[in-house]
Amino acid sequence: MKTIAINSIKGGTGKSTLSVLFINALTGAGYKCLVIDADASNNSLSYYLDNSETVEIAQKKTIFDLFLGLKAQDCITRINEQLDLIRGDVRLNEFRSTDSLKRLKRALGEAAYDYCIIDTSPTYDNIIGNVLTASDILLIPIQQDIFSYQALQYQFQKLADLELDNLDTHIIFNQFEKPLNDNQGTYRNQVTNMFLENETFKSFINGNYLSRSSVYRKYINKRNYKLDAKTETQKSFNEAKELIENILGVSINEAI
Ligand SMILES: Nc1ncnc2c1ncn2[C@@H]1O[C@H](COP(=O)(O)OP(=O)(O)OP(=O)(O)O)[C@@H](O)[C@H]1O
Ligand SMILES: [Mg+2]
Repeated sequence: MKTIAINSIKGGTGKSTLSVLFINALTGAGYKCLVIDADASNNSLSYYLDNSETVEIAQKKTIFDLFLGLKAQDCITRINEQLDLIRGDVRLNEFRSTDSLKRLKRALGEAAYDYCIIDTSPTYDNIIGNVLTASDILLIPIQQDIFSYQALQYQFQKLADLELDNLDTHIIFNQFEKPLNDNQGTYRNQVTNMFLENETFKSFINGNYLSRSSVYRKYINKRNYKLDAKTETQKSFNEAKELIENILGVSINEAI
């Protein structure tokens, strides 16, 4: 099983959007996936829950129980044949300063999936420390603004403290707008260059990006809306497909 963490310390950068794109692309390509909602305050993956089921599902086990020591298979909600979900839970906050960074890694130990994808909240605490310790790949969505840059500097200091030398880290521009060739002095050009020229980050910046587009907003709000070769979604489909194929070395041919 490959475990993929999606985290940025700045809020609203696209963590949940990326999570849903990766999950839907991978399940569409036939992989068996587990998705974990480690965002204690947002229940950001309620995307996968039907409103009619929400009340019943709210009684089931969650990530809180996983951190208490239950195994993954005892905490899942089945979404479909390809996908299991471990729900978010506000009580996860109890573990923000837990003494162990290995709780999640231990709980996931024997889980039998091709991919596990973990969406997180925009924070740095020991919940995130647990998520990163359990992960093989880290995706960090960023935006072209100075606050995202400062948050990334802070995040890299924290990552260095964790000494996770094998964590395959990708910084991904989201809501990307191409810098303008003819006006080097604009804020957008300056900030983009700060990221690209930073000695610490530059080797981790993925060459693929997701543009700012209302298509992604629509996607995240409508469960039956697919990205495919139709005119409206083709650009977004190609961006997401290329990003996922580049990072995971898989082939995404179906609609996402
Ligand atoms: N490429 C994009 N183009 C346009 N809108 C986008 C794009 N990516 C994300 N958004 C929108 O930006 C908002 C924030 O995205 P999202 O919820 O994925 O971020 P997040 O990092 O999970 O936020 P939080 O930190 O609150 O968990 C949403 O309204 C989403 O639809
Ligand atoms: Mg989110």
